Amino acid sequence: MTIAVTGATGHLGRLIVESLLARGVPAGDIVATGRATERIADLADRGVVVRPADYLDPESLDAAFAGVGTLVLVSSGDFADRAGQHAAAVDAAKRAGVGRVAYTSIANADTSTLLLAHDHQATEAYLRASGLPFTFLRNGWYTENYSAQLPTYLAHGVAGSAGDGVANIAARADYAEAAAVVATTEGHEGKAYELGGQGVTLADIAAIASEVTGQEIAYTDLPLEVLTGILVGAGLPEPVAAVYADADRGIKAGELAVDPSVLEGLIGRPATPVLDTFKAAAAG
Ligand SMILES: NC(=O)c1ccc[n+]([C@@H]2O[C@H](COP(=O)([O-])OP(=O)(O)OC[C@H]3O[C@@H](n4cnc5c(N)ncnc54)[C@H](OP(=O)(O)O)[C@@H]3O)[C@@H](O)[C@H]2O)c1
Repeated sequence: MTIAVTGATGHLGRLIVESLLARGVPAGDIVATGRATERIADLADRGVVVRPADYLDPESLDAAFAGVGTLVLVSSGDFADRAGQHAAAVDAAKRAGVGRVAYTSIANADTSTLLLAHDHQATEAYLRASGLPFTFLRNGWYTENYSAQLPTYLAHGVAGSAGDGVANIAARADYAEAAAVVATTEGHEGKAYELGGQGVTLADIAAIASEVTGQEIAYTDLPLEVLTGILVGAGLPEPVAAVYADADRGIKAGELAVDPSVLEGLIGRPATPVLDTFKAAAAG
C-alpha cells in the first residue's frame, strides 16, 4: 500500500519518510512530496518515489496523490491561508481515492486558543467533513524550537512570557515516528492523538541550556508586549512576532500540556529526553 507524505522537503516530513523506511516500508511504496523536490533527491536515489506537489496547484496534487492509499498531510510551512492549502490537499486526496489521511495538527486542538491553532482547527473540521477516514496527530512543540536557539540563549539568555507554564515537548523525530506508526498500522481511524514528551518550563529550558553549554543561562519572564517588541527587534514581521509571543501565552495557560503516555504508547518508548536534543544541538 502506497503512503504519501507532504512536506517531505521539510524537516518533519523528511523524518517521517525516514521512519517509514526504518519500519520496513519498501522505498517504492513511499511517495515523498513537496515543492522543492531537489532537496530530497537523496531520497529518490534510495528508491523513494519523489513527486512535486504544491498546495496552490491542484493539478500537481492530483498527480502526486495518484494511487496513494494513505496520505500523511504535514501542515504547511506557508502561513498565508494555510487552512486553504490544507483543504486543497484534502480535496485532491478525495479525488484520488486516498483511503485515509493522517494530519499533523496541534496539541489540544479541541480547546486551544492559540492563534496558531486556528488553521489546524479549520483543517480538522474540513477533514472530518470530507468523509475521508482521518487521524489527527496533534503534535506538541518541537524541542528543536528551543534547542535551535542555543546561540541566542548563550548571547542573551532565555526570554519568554510563559511564566512557569509547562509544555510537553518532543523531538521532531519522535513525532515523525508516531506518524509512521499511524500510517503503517491499523486502528487509528477517527482518532485524535495528543502528542508530547517531557514536561518543561522555560526555566527548565534555561537550566538544560546551561548544562549543555557549561555557561549560566537564565530565564527572564517578560510581559507579552515586551517579548513581541524584542522579536520584532530581532527582525520578525510584527504579525509573526505576535503569533510567537501568543504561543507563550498559551504555554503559560497550560495549552501545550499533554499526557506523554500517548506518544509513548504509539512509538513504544519515551520521547527523546530534552537534554539529549540539546546535546545534539550543542554538538553541531
Ligand atoms: N509543533 C511545532 O513546534 C511546530 C513548529 C514549527 C512548525 N510547525 C508546523 O509543522 C510543520 C512541519 O514542521 P517542519 O519543521 O517540517 O517545517 P518545515 O521544515 O518548514 O517544512 C514545511 C514544509 O511545508 C512545505 N510547504 C510550504 N508551502 C507549501 C506549498 N504551497 N505546497 C506544498 N508544500 C508546501 C514545505 O515545502 P517546500 O519547502 O518544498 O516548499 C516544507 O516541506 C510546519 O510546516 C508547521 O505547519 C510545528
